[in-house]
Amino acid sequence: MTTLTSDTAMDELKAYIETVKKKARPESYLIAILHKAQHLYGYLDKEVMNEIAFIMNLPTAHIWGVATFYHYFNLTPKGEHTIAICLGTACYVKGAGDLLDTLKEELKITIGETTEDKLFTLQEARCLGACGLAPVIMIDEKIYGEMTPKKVVALLAHFRTEK
Ligand code: FES
Repeated sequence: MTTLTSDTAMDELKAYIETVKKKARPESYLIAILHKAQHLYGYLDKEVMNEIAFIMNLPTAHIWGVATFYHYFNLTPKGEHTIAICLGTACYVKGAGDLLDTLKEELKITIGETTEDKLFTLQEARCLGACGLAPVIMIDEKIYGEMTPKKVVALLAHFRTEK
């Protein structure tokens, strides 16, 4: 996540969009632009998306459509920790659905949302490349394998006390 002020971030974003606008079919770089914006701001702020729409001369609804279609774009600020639950086949058959229910119940949020205390953001993944340890979740950069609902509860408690 960036530590730039929003003015500096906007200057950098505008400079990036200007380089993209010189290319053939600049609108095909929209996902790259949204990635850049998310990198700079940590999430896709409504005003930033409006600005992108204005500079790119594209309808705001189109920008929103793309941003909401892809799960990896965050439309709200992310929490301190990001939890990715793997819902790939190997994890799913080994009980990822129960893990997801536990996470939703414990955090009182659903996929794509951030807890009220801004501690956790919940995301889904399709395969975290650790199928042998299924079911797995990833918190920040670390993989936790052979998870059970009980282990999930204990892990969340650990992160909460670390706060
Ligand atoms: S399906 Fe979950 S790690 Fe591969």
